[in-house]
This record gives sequence, C-alpha cells and structure tokens, in this order.
Amino acid sequence: MSITIKVRQNGSLLVEGEDVKLVDWTGAEYVVPKRPFSLCRCGQSKEKPFCDGSHKTCGFIGDQAAPGPRANQAPPAAPGTPSTPGTPGTPGT
Ligand code: FES
Repeated sequence: MSITIKVRQNGSLLVEGEDVKLVDWTGAEYVVPKRPFSLCRCGQSKEKPFCDGSHKTCGFIGDQAAPGPRANQAPPAAPGTPSTPGTPGTPGT
C-alpha cells in the first residue's frame, strides 16, 4: 500500500494511506481520529500535530509547488543541434 503526503496550497499536509503510523519524538503513537488525516504546517492548530483548520483564518501562505521531475532535466536539444558525447540523458550517449 502506498503512502502519499500531499502539500496543500496554503494548508495542511494531507496524509493518505492505511499503513501509516504517526509517532512523537519518543516513538509513542498518536491516535489518528480518521483517515486520511492532515498535519498542521502553519503552526496555529490547537490540535497539533493535526490540522484543525486554523490555517484558513491565520493568513497562512504556503504556495511553493514542487518543481516536478521535469525541472531537473535539460531541455531537449533543438533539431540539428549536435549532442555532446558522454553527457548522460542526451541523444548519442
Ligand atoms: S495547517 Fe491547518 S491548522 Fe495549521
């Protein structure tokens, strides 16, 4: 079973997956009230580490999207452009 942690825009961390344990710094397990569950990342929740919706009223902004796998790839070479031999990921290697 896969686990997904979704960073919500201007909100919490949504944890999806049935086989997820949430533990504190001693290894003690939190009782998770429902699944999926959300973890606070705004710092304002009264139910930490869980989100209680306070991010909606405190002006929390968290809108840095992941760059995605394409951000780390070199752009494709233009047609007719010779590739550099030995450069990983480019044609001709
Ligand atoms: S992210 Fe929801 S209360 Fe902090």
